[in-house]
Amino acid sequence: MLCLGIETSCDETSLALADNNGLLDQITFSQADIHSVFGGVVPEMASREHLNKLSPLFQSLMERSGTKKKDIRAIAVTRGPGLLGCLLVGLGFAKGLALGLGVPLVGVNHLHAHLMAPGLEKDISFPALGILVSGGHTNIYLIKNPFDFELLGRTLDDAAGEAFDKAAKTLNIPYPGGVFIDRFAAFSSPDQKMFPKPYLDNTNLDFSFSGIKTAMVYFVRDNQDLILQNRAIVDEKYIPSPELSKVCASFNWSIARTIKIKLKRALTRHPVKSIILAGGVAANTMVRHAVEELALEHHLEPVLPRLTLCTDNAAMVAWYGRLLINEGYYHSLDLEAIPRGKKVPWDYLRDRVRGSKSAFQGLSEQSG
Ligand code: KG4
Ligand code: ZN
Repeated sequence: MLCLGIETSCDETSLALADNNGLLDQITFSQADIHSVFGGVVPEMASREHLNKLSPLFQSLMERSGTKKKDIRAIAVTRGPGLLGCLLVGLGFAKGLALGLGVPLVGVNHLHAHLMAPGLEKDISFPALGILVSGGHTNIYLIKNPFDFELLGRTLDDAAGEAFDKAAKTLNIPYPGGVFIDRFAAFSSPDQKMFPKPYLDNTNLDFSFSGIKTAMVYFVRDNQDLILQNRAIVDEKYIPSPELSKVCASFNWSIARTIKIKLKRALTRHPVKSIILAGGVAANTMVRHAVEELALEHHLEPVLPRLTLCTDNAAMVAWYGRLLINEGYYHSLDLEAIPRGKKVPWDYLRDRVRGSKSAFQGLSEQSG
């Protein structure tokens, strides 16, 4: 069953085709260069770019993959959380195609799609502990199966990606800051005492990264030489000063270590078979290493998506959408977009005939 996935929740316009064997093809236009001038995503510009790019990208994807429109059997689209205007553009395009082609539509929770993305590359053993680390979220989930997500912990303020991006801004490092902090950190080793490991003195599984971001502001205030004079010269080959790379390595280490400690705590309460790392920050070297190390220590399978599957992409939407459709889940054309900060409801309609043929038949329909 060939499923078209559409992703427009932030600043990547992405379309992908997935079938039962995995990813067939994907085409993505990243708006990063457009927004980097402003130091962050400008929502209205992002929506307009999605509107301009979706149709030509769809044509290119069809031609490049040799796919005929009639071969598409389902449309999966990210319905939230994300920037509302951006989501609306994707939903409009998806609904038009579903109506025109007469195929089912399914609105995908962007966070669930991130967590299930590694399934494109290998089978995931359930139950799994899922850690989703992105620009807007730092969530720990107990995932009993691909249709049952229980939220165990979340950030109470800034997400880890946001902390990376804001720390980078303080140092005048270009957007997206997390990517550059990761790269700069590779030139040094961490000073484990330079930054706090935030919000560990409790018994819960929540996070709080606003304190470490403030710690960076104070550190830079007292060490103004660290601030990059001209961020326009920073490119992939740029080599940071030893002082700047030390700060990046130390900041990065504190975040990775904090995530590891909270995950370790979650494992003592919830026996699982694997740990899934997902979201944009899953591309981070130290965070990947921390999760891999933890999985090894507990004899669990580490499930880490390859780097191109970490950032926003339509492959994960097509893949998870296809899983949902095969299980009988779909939406009607009045599917709504869910903006950032709002819980995405589990409001799928269900075709029990299709669902009864699924490998996951009989599994819980609940989701968090
Ligand atoms: O999941 P994502 O692509 O978008 C959403 O937030 O939904 O995540 C973007 C976040 C940004 O904060 C970006 O700085 C961060 O992921 N990021 C990284 C790395 N690559 C992306 N943070 C740290 N290290 C990286 N290598
Ligand atoms: Zn994302």
